[in-house]
Amino acid sequence: MSGIVGYLGTRSAQEVLIHCLMNLEYRGYDSAGLAVSDGHHVEVRKEKGRIQDLEASLQLDSILHGNLGIGHTRWASHGNPSAKNSHPLTDQDQQFFVVHNGIIENYHALKRDLITDGYSFVTDTDSEVIPHLLRKYDTGDFIQTVRNVLPMLKGSFALAIMSASNPDMIIGISQENPLIVGFGQNEAFLSSDVSALLTYTKETYPIKNNEIAIITGEDIAIETINGEPIIPEKAYIEWNKEEILLNEYDHFMLKEILEQPASLKNTLENRIKNDKVYLPEVETFLDTHSFERFNKIDIIGNGTSYHSGMVGKSIMDKLLSIPVEVSLSSEFTYEHGKLDESKLVIVLSQSGETADTLTALKEAKSNGAKTIAITNNKRSNIARQADCLISMNAGPELAVAATKAYTSQITVLSLLSIHLCVQTESPSEMFLKELIEALKELPDIVDQTLVMTEDAIDSFAQVTEDQPNLFLIGRGLDYVLALEGALKLQEVAYLHANAYAAGEVKHGTMALVTPGVPIIALATQPHLKGKMVSNIRELKTRDGYVFGITTVGDDALTEVVDEIMYIPEAHSLLMPIVAAIPLQLLAYYSGTVRGYNVDRPRNLAKSLTVE
Ligand code: F6R
Repeated sequence: MSGIVGYLGTRSAQEVLIHCLMNLEYRGYDSAGLAVSDGHHVEVRKEKGRIQDLEASLQLDSILHGNLGIGHTRWASHGNPSAKNSHPLTDQDQQFFVVHNGIIENYHALKRDLITDGYSFVTDTDSEVIPHLLRKYDTGDFIQTVRNVLPMLKGSFALAIMSASNPDMIIGISQENPLIVGFGQNEAFLSSDVSALLTYTKETYPIKNNEIAIITGEDIAIETINGEPIIPEKAYIEWNKEEILLNEYDHFMLKEILEQPASLKNTLENRIKNDKVYLPEVETFLDTHSFERFNKIDIIGNGTSYHSGMVGKSIMDKLLSIPVEVSLSSEFTYEHGKLDESKLVIVLSQSGETADTLTALKEAKSNGAKTIAITNNKRSNIARQADCLISMNAGPELAVAATKAYTSQITVLSLLSIHLCVQTESPSEMFLKELIEALKELPDIVDQTLVMTEDAIDSFAQVTEDQPNLFLIGRGLDYVLALEGALKLQEVAYLHANAYAAGEVKHGTMALVTPGVPIIALATQPHLKGKMVSNIRELKTRDGYVFGITTVGDDALTEVVDEIMYIPEAHSLLMPIVAAIPLQLLAYYSGTVRGYNVDRPRNLAKSLTVE
């Protein structure tokens, strides 16, 4: 989604805002803009394209002087990407300057009334109603005007606002959309995400719904919308600024793929002791809401988080005797089975801010269900609103494509399944022992997988360079893996990669198999390998080019495929983690060989805060 920032202090606002926006670029990179005040006068600059384009135009044109300002990097939702539609947006008298992330759901009606009243619109955005409303209801008191206008806006939004008549003040608002205040030495920051603040401060406060942050040279005041003061409970960011640097890597995506042995170690840290799983947060939750009260588990997420959820369902199906259903959050909100206090809903979201998932979480809660969030962002909306939070501890993920988030989510789901199983079932001691042992070994196995596969997958990616289509097939958990591999290839290599349950290809898709079409056959599940061999033979009969991925020492596939890649063997339930590594690398190399910026795929953004 879009990213917004604000700064007030003693440094050049332009420099700080550009720096922070660069760290927020994963939230959108269609256009960018700044409004900077020198204490007397506010100036605005905007550019279509990336932050670098805005920075270059500021160098060419004149630099914005001043120590106070707001900035925006946009992912277009209403109105195409253009300088015209970029933020900050203003009214016709240039009295108010607004950067907005989110959506104003009632903008049609507001816009119609404003036009009737003679306000003329220059952009196609929903956001432009905000500066016009501020102008229309301007009381002469900036803070009071904002208070009066806020209740008129429906939807989810984070806003940073400046006023020409108070050019020494910034107001920040966060309504179901993240906005964080950063506290520095005689300076203050606003940002959609803590990662953009790491260079300057680690002391933060996430603004809550119905609160207003008022930033002036003297003070950072947090108030309720009615003006009652709030003493902010500051949160300290654990991440280091080194974690958000590219260092020797060309792309965050590769850095994050290669980081997985370490991120998995962090996810597992202190959670397995003496061959037992420890999740104190879940223990506390179950003290109040005992697991026996639940008669169904729903798992929800979007995109990659949905795929992790599918793997989680399989693990729970093996360990628990309670029905588990997995749904896309964007569907779940509007189409779900009976929800009440006997349902446990597990919410998966790396960012903790995805609007589809947040809305689904609220739907579950409003129907009485209890909720556990698994997220990488402890201060996110989803983390705050769920009844129980399990942190993924994977460290910042900045590439748009999720990689280490997927492997850490499955790891947490495995730990959670074991924890719930031990509390409620009489599990096979041996089965649990093997799974716990396999989890302990996981970081090393992933490390070996990276070493074994990186070069070979790079060569395969070069071979597929001129292919517009690619199929991935698998059975059981390998089918889920195929779905995740296909999503990565679509996202960063713009390849028509499609995943199929291997047994289904003959029921229709086989018509698309022409000589040479590349097919990745995943065969990591021991009990399904025989059937996979038969399905591969069917494809070879039609001269498809089959690249098999299987575990070391398995000869079954070798003679039926054109190329084979061996990966280390782990517990079968954890193979969707191990085998995801070569698929993530394939997406990365297929994207880079085609010359794409894999960290900033076209039309996409991370952390989608609109439904
Ligand atoms: C794919 C990807 C997306 C996200 C999805 C959910 O690589 O990154 O599909 O997985 O947008 O995001 P979170 O997990 O932040 O809710």
